[in-house]
Formats: sequence, C-alpha cells, structure tokens
Amino acid sequence: MRLNIACIEGDGIGPEIVTEAKKILDKVASVYGHEITYTNILMGGASIDVHGVPLTEDAVAAAKAADAVLMGSIGGDTTTSPWYKLPPNLRPEAGLLAIRKALNLFANLRPAVLYDELADACPLKKEISSAGFDMMIMRELTGGLYFGERHTTEENGVRKAVDTLTYDENEIRRITIKGFEIAMKRKKKVTSVDKANVLDSSRLWRKVVEEVAADYPEVTLEHMLVDNCAMQLVKNPGQFDVILTENMFGDILSDEASMVTGSIGMLASASLNDTKFGLYEPSHGSAPDIAGKGIANPIATILSAAMMLRFSFDLDREADAVERAVKNVLKKGYRTIDIMSEGCTQVGCKEMGDLLTDEIN
Ligand code: IPM
Ligand code: MG
Repeated sequence: MRLNIACIEGDGIGPEIVTEAKKILDKVASVYGHEITYTNILMGGASIDVHGVPLTEDAVAAAKAADAVLMGSIGGDTTTSPWYKLPPNLRPEAGLLAIRKALNLFANLRPAVLYDELADACPLKKEISSAGFDMMIMRELTGGLYFGERHTTEENGVRKAVDTLTYDENEIRRITIKGFEIAMKRKKKVTSVDKANVLDSSRLWRKVVEEVAADYPEVTLEHMLVDNCAMQLVKNPGQFDVILTENMFGDILSDEASMVTGSIGMLASASLNDTKFGLYEPSHGSAPDIAGKGIANPIATILSAAMMLRFSFDLDREADAVERAVKNVLKKGYRTIDIMSEGCTQVGCKEMGDLLTDEIN
C-alpha cells in the first residue's frame, strides 16, 4: 500500500519525537511491504519563524493532499518565547486551531490507559489503581467556545470580554455517532459529559445524544455532569469506557485523565473528520525545557503513528505490531526519564526509537 503522510515536526521536542516515529513507520513499511512518502509541513513556531504566520494556505493544501498527518507538537515557553509577544491569532496555537478547522477534524480521540508495567507511576491510591483503567475520551474539536464569536471591548473605562459557546444539532450528532461507533468496538459504554443543569448547549447535547443512542441498543449510555466527571476520574477511573464531550470540557478532562495514568509521555491522540483522513499527535506538549537534550519520550508519538495505521489506513496488523513493540520494550525494562523507575534501564529518545524499531520484524 502507498502511504502518503504529511509530517508536522513542530516545535520543542517535536522534531526529535517525529524522527523516531518515522523510523518505526519505515521499518513497518519494509517488513509489511508498504511504501511511504513524507511531505514536511511547517506549523506553529517553526512556521512563524519562516513565514511570519503559524499556518500558511500552502501548508493546509499540502496537508489536504496527504492521506494523513503525523504531528509532533507545537508551541514554546509562553513567558520567554518571542512567539507569545505576537497577537493571539498569530501565535503557535492558532495554527493548530486553524488546521483542525480547515481539515474539519471534529472528532478527537484521546485514549487514557494505565499500563501494567507503569502502574507505579499512577498517582492514585493502590486500591483504586489496581483495578486498572482503559478509557477513550472523545472530544468534539471544531465547535463550542474555541470557535465561537469572541471580542474584547471597553465601555466607560470598563473592559469586557465575551466568548460564545454554540453548538448546532448536526455538530453534536456527528461526534456522537463516532463515539457510539468506537464504543461498539470497545466495552460498549458511553458516558456523555455535559453541564445540562446550567447550559442550553448542554441540554441540546443531551437530547441529541439520546436520539443517536436509540440506534445503538447494545451500548449503555449514561449522562454525567462535568464537575462530577472531574471527581469520578480520580475516584473510580475504571468505570469509564468512552467519555463523549464537547470541546472545552474535553480539553480539561483529557489533561486530567492523562495525569491520572501517570505517564503522559505514553498517550497518543487522533483527530478525525468524516473520511479516513486524520491528524495524529501525542497528547503531551512541546516541552521546550527539554528540547534538544535527547531525553524526550517518543512513545506517545509512536503510538499516535499506530493509531494512524489503524484509523486512516486500516492496517490493523501493523498497528498491533507497533503497540506490541511498546509493550515488549517496557517489559524488558527500558524507560525514558519521564517513566523511569528503580531497577529499569534508562534510555534516551533515539535509543528508545531504536529499541522499538528492532521489535518490528
Ligand atoms: C490540546 C491543547 C490545545 C487545545 C491548545 C494548545 C490550543 O491544549 O490539544 O488539548 O486547547 O485544544
Ligand atoms: Mg489541552
């Protein structure tokens, strides 16, 4: 199969981790008989430095021409980087929001899994973590507060800022359908998270979710208020299978869920539209403080590449092989510094990439 992949290395540790992901993809291609072409795209700070904007039209066109996008991470240190002296619409993050919108990537999948080998890193009490957990956060990604109308004004010396939270039923329905489809392949449970005791947008969310649920009698649906969900994630994370929620709630809850695993350097993500196209990136940020030191954990990016093989190319066997490689290397006791524990062997970013690549054969 021909795999036409656009690569956004991005900022900070982005280039290092994408290099390792490409290494393992190339090995997969040679073992399983595929051909990969990569096209590099600039986004975020890297694009600002060259073009003065975080995303160009050409970059969007190049991404659209690919079958999938593999991304590292974007952004810099918000207190010291000159990128953050620019107006908000020209900062690195604006590039990420713009590409999500331009490619219609409305469904964001963020798995939060407790790896057996890394259970010690989980900050929860043993009696909670020993039950394990494996959830998929499905975050709506192109609507809500992130893309509503916003402005800042000043009237009679009083400054005022407005952001608007809007959803129409079609936006809710398409992410909900994706959520139920994913649940059908998992433990068949959907927890829809909202703030229906206060917000109109949440009350519509709940109605539409119930309408969609009628088409999936095998899936158990429950509704949960977002503040309660934030509590339940630390109290009993094992209760969740698919968490379905709107953009802003999903942003916050997915960070919480990743922290609960204790190993954010391991968590992948996929952002999908209604075709096979997707953008795949680690759940963690660009970690400018450790950029260039060769110590970043490339596993989240490598697992994102596995999601790409699975969702955009239907290459389940190849995706399984990459995921198995990660488990094997962890079992053998190799760790990057962020997941290091006593008795294990500490390795750098490149060594970790090499070890994983060697497992594919
Ligand atoms: C994320 C990030 C982004 C978001 C930022 C960088 C704009 O936090 O992908 O979760 O809020 O969506
Ligand atoms: Mg976030």
